[in-house]
Amino acid sequence: MTPLVSVRNLEKSIPTKPSPTWLLRRITFDVNEGDFVSIMGPSGAGKSTLLHILGLYDHGWQGEMFLEGQPVHAMKPKERAALNRSHVGFVFQQFHLLDDLTVSENLEEPLRYRDLKSGERQARVGDILDRFGIVGKKDLYPSQLSGGQQQLVAVARAVIARPRLLLADEPTGNLHSDQAREIMGLFKRLNDEGATIIQVTHSQENAAHGNRVIKLRDGWMDT
Ligand SMILES: Nc1ncnc2c1ncn2[C@@H]1O[C@H](COP(=O)(O)OP(=O)(O)OP(=O)(O)O)[C@@H](O)[C@H]1O
Ligand SMILES: [Mg+2]
Repeated sequence: MTPLVSVRNLEKSIPTKPSPTWLLRRITFDVNEGDFVSIMGPSGAGKSTLLHILGLYDHGWQGEMFLEGQPVHAMKPKERAALNRSHVGFVFQQFHLLDDLTVSENLEEPLRYRDLKSGERQARVGDILDRFGIVGKKDLYPSQLSGGQQQLVAVARAVIARPRLLLADEPTGNLHSDQAREIMGLFKRLNDEGATIIQVTHSQENAAHGNRVIKLRDGWMDT
């Protein structure tokens, strides 16, 4: 089986004098379809840097990365951006919803890039509102929601276009423990339904929902 994500000797440095600063060194791993991977490690270890590369947001690195067997390292920025839109959903610690759009409108955003009729988009939005138990919030703006509710909407937005890969950078970092447990329960459910997930987390409890841990320290994989 071809891994969904395959990374070989991935490295990232930034030019500093007298010698470059290394953010990631010789990172090599595979993520199979259906995996739920947690990236862990101390602050500054390179976790967010790695996650942004995996999400195809960052082009300044060396080495090889394959997504569904396609060589990302050989792609032009435009091709990478297209692959990001078709394959990746991303959840941020700070939710990053669009403040001047309602919940429904936020959820519809990722569908704009899909070849869907307006009716189909509305049906998908209705379906996900229902699945996530937030129908009653559909016309509210993000500022009218609690942090946990905003993150629920952000996760719904990340999965509405049915990405192959769901990435999350400390998705419960800004939440109270009961809200955090709800979001982690949701990730577990999405994973049980087949979603492939890579999360960055500092919490052993969160990592316990996944099936594998990748440890980073000073840019290196801890083995
Ligand atoms: N564009 C940049 N320019 C300079 N240094 C950078 C840049 N991006 C990241 N770094 C540095 O790279 C290191 C790794 O940062 P990164 O954000 O990936 O860490 P992290 O593991 O996510 O930490 P945290 O747990 O605090 O979120 C840090 O030392 C950071 O200062
Ligand atoms: Mg980080």
